[in-house]
This record gives sequence, C-alpha cells and structure tokens, in this order.
Amino acid sequence: MRAPLTEAELDARLAALGLVRDDSVAAPPPSKNRTVVCRNGRRRVLVKVADGPGNVGVLREGSILERVAPLAKEPDAPLLLPGIYAFDPGNGLLALHWLQGGETLHHFHRRSGDYPRQVARQVGRALGYLHRASHDSPGRFALADAFRDESDLLECFLRMRPDFYARLSGVGVELFSQVQADAPAMAGLQALSEQQAKESEACLLHGDLRQANLLRVGKDRNAPVFFLDWELSFWGDPARDLGSLFADYVSAYLAPEHKSEVLSRAELSSFCRALLAAYGEARGDSFALTADFQDRVVRWVATALLIAVYGISHYEQLLDTRARGLAQQALDMLAAPQSWPAVLWGAP
Ligand SMILES: Nc1ncnc2c1ncn2[C@@H]1O[C@H](COP(=O)(O)OP(=O)(O)O)[C@@H](O)[C@H]1O
Ligand SMILES: [Mg+2]
Repeated sequence: MRAPLTEAELDARLAALGLVRDDSVAAPPPSKNRTVVCRNGRRRVLVKVADGPGNVGVLREGSILERVAPLAKEPDAPLLLPGIYAFDPGNGLLALHWLQGGETLHHFHRRSGDYPRQVARQVGRALGYLHRASHDSPGRFALADAFRDESDLLECFLRMRPDFYARLSGVGVELFSQVQADAPAMAGLQALSEQQAKESEACLLHGDLRQANLLRVGKDRNAPVFFLDWELSFWGDPARDLGSLFADYVSAYLAPEHKSEVLSRAELSSFCRALLAAYGEARGDSFALTADFQDRVVRWVATALLIAVYGISHYEQLLDTRARGLAQQALDMLAAPQSWPAVLWGAP
C-alpha cells in the first residue's frame, strides 16, 4: 500500500517527467482516481496518480496500454487509444497525451439526442479488432495479473465473500438476497462465470466499456472515437465487453432517468445491430455471431444492469421503483436471454 503523496512530492515527480500542472483546464470530474492536468511546453498531458490503496488500476492501465499500443499503430487500425506520454509504475504515475476537443459518448448522446450508426460501427469495429488480435496471439498481451479480477461483482453474486457481505448496506443485502433467491437467474450467472474461465475462447477485454469511457474527438460525422480507461482490462468472455456497453443503452431504453436519455426501441436496436454487425466483421471469418454468443451478450447486459443497481444501493442507501424495476428486468434477462436479442438488436 502506498501512502498518499503530498502536493510537493507530486510536483517533484511531475517535474522529473518534464511536467508542470496546468490549472487553465478543469480536471475531469473526480472519480476513484486522482487525475491532474499538466503540460510540457504547449503539449497538454493528463496524469493519473496511483497514490492510495485500490489504485492498482492505474498501474494495470499503464501495462495494458503499453501492450495494446502497437495494435493501434498498425496501418488502418480501427482501435484508437490515447498515447502514453510517460508510464512510471514505481512512482504510480501514468501520463497520457490530452485529446483536445473530446466528448464522451455519454455526453454526446445526451447533448445531441443522436445515436448514429456511424458511431456504432466505429466502436464495433475497434472492439472486434481488439478481441480478434488478442484471441489470435494471446502471448503478445499476456499480463501476470490480468487474468483475474478480485473485485468482480459477478463472482460476488455467485459466491459472496464475508468481507464484501460485511460492507453491504441493508438495501444491498436485500438486492443480493433477491438475486440469490432466483434460481434461474443464478443459473444464468453461473453459465457466464464458467464461460469466463474458458481460456480457449478468451480475449483481452477492455473490461469497463461504457459510454463514459469512449471519447469522441471533434464534431464531424466521422469524428474518431477513442477507447479510454483500461484499468479493469483482463482476459475473459468477449461477449462481456459488448454486454457492458449495451447496458448503458438498454437502461436508457428500459428506464431513462432523464428526458435527455430517452431512447426508443427502434433507435436502440438500430444502434446495437450496427455495432454487432461491425464487430462480427472485424472478428473475421472464423467468428460467428451464434445464438449462444448473443444470449451471453444479453446476460452480460443483465449483469451490468445489476451492478449499476448495486451501485445505486451503495451510494443512495435505497432503491426506488426505477432501480427495482431494472433489477427485475435484469433477472428476467439472466433467466431467459433467448427472448431478448429480438428486442435489443433484432436480427443482426
Ligand atoms: N487522454 C485524454 N484526453 C482528454 N480527456 C481525457 C483523456 N483521458 C481521460 N479523459 C477524460 O477524463 C475522464 C476520466 O478518465 P478515465 O480514464 O475514464 O479515468 P477514471 O474514470 O478511471 O477516472 C474521461 O471520461 C474523459 O472525459
Ligand atoms: Mg472512466
């Protein structure tokens, strides 16, 4: 465990990398990480600082980005990544080149109300390319600790650890009991857990694919979309990345929280269909979007929805009707995924 850095220590470490803080830009909203915007001359750099327990994510992100960067540099590579300015694991610093004029897909969709197929295709192509390349030559991406995720909530639903249970709120206990009492849903979660462990089909996953971790840079129709935030990247079932991202769109369709989020079924299915089709093309001829694969995507959507509901229970200490409804839909998807592809993406 690292002791938190003092401001002077951080400044000294930044200076060793040729960086000074740049207070003229607002830092990204605070998250679990400490993020500092800096500059080297006129070049702007975003520095993620691992200065406390639980910040191993920053170190993992640096190692993963170093391994994935060559992929993004191949000619016509569809996968776009922020460039590494410096990675200093000993001091817990990851410095990334700043992407000027970026907007996350979360903000883009809410600001514009637009769900262009062009965006879906770009993301699908990039993800299929990552999964294909890592599946074909796993040795290039091997990482000692990237195969396991100790904080995996899927595993918590299946086999609750006592330390996790001890930290649950009352309403969290209620949610976990509801899931665990639902035998068909639990069987669905178990099937995912078994698939995760099948190394023959495993790929390097982004691991936290969500609208907030996809940055669209520029405003034109073909604006490139960059994949950010590789802290949870690990090996596993490729359907998981798709399910994780789709969950953001599915929750906007099933239970929008705000007017700007409302997504019709036609918009949802057209977006997901375009993304899946581009994904399948990029995965190549040996990959088929089988019914089984699609069912797994649905179940991963459900898992991501349950994790989101768990997040609400954790931060708000209560679950409103919307959150409870979403949990119920997720349990239904886990138990009977077959009826959902038609709803979520029609026939891709
Ligand atoms: N290289 C970058 N250039 C510009 N903005 C960035 C860059 N990396 C991250 N951001 C912004 O910072 C936010 C948080 O970064 P992210 O890597 O997702 O870290 P975390 O979510 O773990 O704090 C992103 O949603 C994005 O808005
Ligand atoms: Mg993020």
